[in-house]
Amino acid sequence: MNNIPFLDLKAQHNELMDEIIETIGENARNANFVGGPLVEEFEQDFARFCGSKYAIGVGSGTDALRFALMGAQVSPGDMVITVPNTFIATTEAITQAGAIPVFIDVDERTGCMAPDKLRDYLETHCYIDMHQGVTINKITDKPVKAVIPVHLFGQVADMDPIMDLAHRHNITIIEDACQAHGAQYFSQKRQSWLRAGSIGESAAFSFYPGKNLGAFGEAGAVTTNNEQLANRIRMLRDHGQVRKYIHEIEGYNGRLDTIQAAILLIKLRHLPRWNEMRRECAARYNELLTKISGVELPYEPIWSRSVYHLYVIQNVQRDTMQQFLSQKGIGTGLHYPVPLHLQKAYSVLGYKEGSFPVSERMCKDILSLPMFPTLGYEQQQRVAMAVMEFNDSQRNGTSEDTFSNANQ
Ligand SMILES: Cc1ncc(COP(=O)(O)O)c(C=O)c1O
Repeated sequence: MNNIPFLDLKAQHNELMDEIIETIGENARNANFVGGPLVEEFEQDFARFCGSKYAIGVGSGTDALRFALMGAQVSPGDMVITVPNTFIATTEAITQAGAIPVFIDVDERTGCMAPDKLRDYLETHCYIDMHQGVTINKITDKPVKAVIPVHLFGQVADMDPIMDLAHRHNITIIEDACQAHGAQYFSQKRQSWLRAGSIGESAAFSFYPGKNLGAFGEAGAVTTNNEQLANRIRMLRDHGQVRKYIHEIEGYNGRLDTIQAAILLIKLRHLPRWNEMRRECAARYNELLTKISGVELPYEPIWSRSVYHLYVIQNVQRDTMQQFLSQKGIGTGLHYPVPLHLQKAYSVLGYKEGSFPVSERMCKDILSLPMFPTLGYEQQQRVAMAVMEFNDSQRNGTSEDTFSNANQ
């Protein structure tokens, strides 16, 4: 029996390969490598897709976050709030902008930033300096400049209350939408469905190959409705240039390659269908796994239309379950096994085990099952069967030694 990969990019690209090879060849023949009309065309199409005015193509999702922070005038010594259960790029961007990351815990059911914990942090640990109109942390006496909610696994965080709190405290919201291309959020306040990337002051997207919209290498984008911010980010990505060799600020080498833009333009046309296929896969998993006791399924509130970048279940026997599935030839992933506040890289921040119990528990229990648009029903049945078998073996006290023969 064939193995079931965690992610199958080859199958997704098969149908587009001729068109993609043709555009790579054409751009190579014409030596179109940096900038040009294809980058602009992709930026316009991607901005339209997200429902925002501007998109600025950059070198990666990490660049997108860093430039969004710097563009919003986040400066050395400022504090930026985010969550501990995200990829380290979120906090790398904060520290590389010179700011200090502050963590708050996540919502138990969605795994995204918990608005009540944000309120708690702002009201208990901070005060508003009325003269300067900034929120100051009471202990460090430093300004809290930005909040980065992470749209985890393809699902938008609960943005209405987060936006309200940010406005009240004069704090910029930068969406980390690196996992959420096309995800939607129903805003009670605005009485409409909003796309990830159109809600905060700006948003960062990653086009790393495995993302819902992936390049053939590194790529990313910032979206925003703010023209001034868009112009500043355009400068930041291109050595601070306003035009060739005229540098208004010191910037970075963080542009989107032309060939990546050309590939992304082709793939973007298929993204709505691929996202719909992912949602269908998620619905099938929900049906197949619903009766398995001890397995918690992803929670999608009524205000959310997730694009299921990942399909993540939770089980207290996560490690042995992962091992069992692996022996059955089923690929899985852990997103993420260690929360950022407990990483050695952030020991300097002084957090301890127990600081963020929800994130810590999730890191121990989560398991990402195979998820990609072309995942077939028969493959999903096999995954569900294996999860069920694992559960039965646990109940019947089957030892781990038995697992090692499970695939023979
Ligand atoms: C939540 C999150 N933020 C940021 C990033 C960084 O994106 P990139 O790898 O394109 O720099 C990623 C990518 O994995 C991500 O998942």
